[in-house]
Amino acid sequence: MIKIAPSLLSADFCNIKAQIQEVERGGAQYLHLDVMDGRFVPNITWGPKIIRDLRKCSQLVFDCHLMIEEPERYVDDFRSAGADIITFHYEATPHAQRLLTHIRKIGAKAGIAINPQTPVSMLQDIVGDLDLLLVMSVNPGFGGQTFIARSLAKLREARSLIDASNPACELEVDGGIGEENIREVVAAGAQVIVMGNSIFNTPHPGEACKKFSALLAGAGAR
Ligand code: DX5
Ligand code: ZN
Repeated sequence: MIKIAPSLLSADFCNIKAQIQEVERGGAQYLHLDVMDGRFVPNITWGPKIIRDLRKCSQLVFDCHLMIEEPERYVDDFRSAGADIITFHYEATPHAQRLLTHIRKIGAKAGIAINPQTPVSMLQDIVGDLDLLLVMSVNPGFGGQTFIARSLAKLREARSLIDASNPACELEVDGGIGEENIREVVAAGAQVIVMGNSIFNTPHPGEACKKFSALLAGAGAR
């Protein structure tokens, strides 16, 4: 079963509650929340307070993608704000394994994201500790960028690594995904599809979610 994870980064924040409820009704399973610190990436978004408030108006799984330096300083705050999945960047901390263990201890699912230049093979010794592996298919920081074609090969490599070492780990892909390539990323092994622009930059985000689910229905979804 493929999961659609609308990325709130592209949503209309004047109508945020209605937008979240629309994608929820449209069949989205996760709500992807991009946390940016202006240091790890050249953009700034929101912190735990916003997530805590949004938690009151949604039952969706809160999938927090931390694009921040020193993520170990903040994971407890995001967990208590209501994050269900906490994903940090491999490139952002020297102690990834320790942090994964801590995230699980505080009751969240633990994920690692890798930037486009980071090889999947870097995760060989840590894949067993992952609940989720996020392959970035754009350079993180902004919505609406172009999908990097090499990401398809990385997804296939990630799929093999997961199948061999930790089949329970979910494979997520994030950046530049839409109608033109969603079937390809699924065929390459992705199970959680993050989409910002192609869901929220439409007149009816809920309908966009339904359209993507329908597109995948015949695409050999895992
Ligand atoms: C980018 C973020 C993404 C972003 C994706 O750094 O991690 O989640 O919102 O947006 P689209 O789908 O528009 O590329
Ligand atoms: Zn993201």
